[in-house]
Amino acid sequence: MTTVKFCLGSSCYIRGNDKSLAFLEEYIRNNKKDISIEVIGCRCRNLCQEGPNVYINDEKYHYTTPEDLIKTIEAL
Ligand code: FES
Repeated sequence: MTTVKFCLGSSCYIRGNDKSLAFLEEYIRNNKKDISIEVIGCRCRNLCQEGPNVYINDEKYHYTTPEDLIKTIEAL
């Protein structure tokens, strides 16, 4: 199981996590037989300058784009 935690603080959300979250949900819908991903949110962790921030299995990823997110998940 892969856990993807999106910062849902306003800065990360408007800087791209809204798009990354939608992109990942679509990816899961299209690949549901092959993957097991838990998607959760978290509050601002005061790393807004480096956002949008995403945590994959508790590892921190900064300046995350939807494409980078999927590449990282597929490489696990
Ligand atoms: S809004 Fe994501 S770290 Fe602040």
